[in-house]
Amino acid sequence: MAKVVALANQKGGVGKTTTAINLAASVALLGKKVLLIDADPQANATSGLGFDINLDGIYECIVGECKASDVILHSEDIKKLWLLPSSINLVAADTELSTMENAHHIIKGIVDSLRDNYDYIFIDCSPSLGFTTVNILTAADSVLVPVQCEYLALEGLSKLLNTIKMVKSRLNPELQIEGFVLTMYMRNKLNNQVVSEVRTHFGELAYETIIQRNIRLGEAPSHGKPIMLYDASATGATNYLSLAREFLKRNRNTHSKKE
Ligand SMILES: Nc1ncnc2c1ncn2[C@@H]1O[C@H](COP(=O)(O)OP(=O)(O)OP(=O)(O)O)[C@@H](O)[C@H]1O
Ligand SMILES: [Mg+2]
Repeated sequence: MAKVVALANQKGGVGKTTTAINLAASVALLGKKVLLIDADPQANATSGLGFDINLDGIYECIVGECKASDVILHSEDIKKLWLLPSSINLVAADTELSTMENAHHIIKGIVDSLRDNYDYIFIDCSPSLGFTTVNILTAADSVLVPVQCEYLALEGLSKLLNTIKMVKSRLNPELQIEGFVLTMYMRNKLNNQVVSEVRTHFGELAYETIIQRNIRLGEAPSHGKPIMLYDASATGATNYLSLAREFLKRNRNTHSKKE
């Protein structure tokens, strides 16, 4: 049974998609069967893995036009990585989901039907705390929060934490926080201050691995590749592989291995 991990932060541009693509790819390269679900109408995870952003995907599954297993794509480059794509159609999901019967559990239904086939399912959320994101948090086992190393990084996180609390109390009591990943780190006083604030605030929930700002990470999506295939020697590749090892180590006891 797969563990389902949502990558969420309603703040835009903090590294959700970069982390989703490269963590999913790294975990797959380390031998686990991984599905990445692109749940953002921007479809950056879909294009970042080199796929067409006009195919049937998560939206068509939500409205019942297709079965997820029929629209999942296999990565050409990484044997154990699959993608459930997104497209601009997903902009309608917040409105459509809210009118459906069992509205909060639609994405959970889709995700649960896929759990048996993978070890980990990562879901890349859009920068919003709307109906679709709440649906995803209802479907997930845990939330991984990318935090950009910048001024006021912690500001806004309380809104996300409140949403997680609300989902936990009303919709999904088992929901956990997987951890906080610091992204786009540069060695300077301000960034070091953010790192220490996040560590003080969240303790062990903050990953030891810090993702540095690395130009190669910004270039890789335009080549449709995760960083380790675009430039294996880049700092970004080393950082994300290290994050994946730490992620798997943390899950060693709670999430048993399936070969
Ligand atoms: N560590 C990094 N070093 C350099 N550039 C990065 C890094 N992480 C992300 N970027 C770049 O920063 C931009 C925002 O990153 P990304 O798309 O991952 O954020 P996001 O949180 O998914 O954004 P959105 O909220 O719009 O979905 C992208 O152009 C990405 O390539
Ligand atoms: Mg994104």
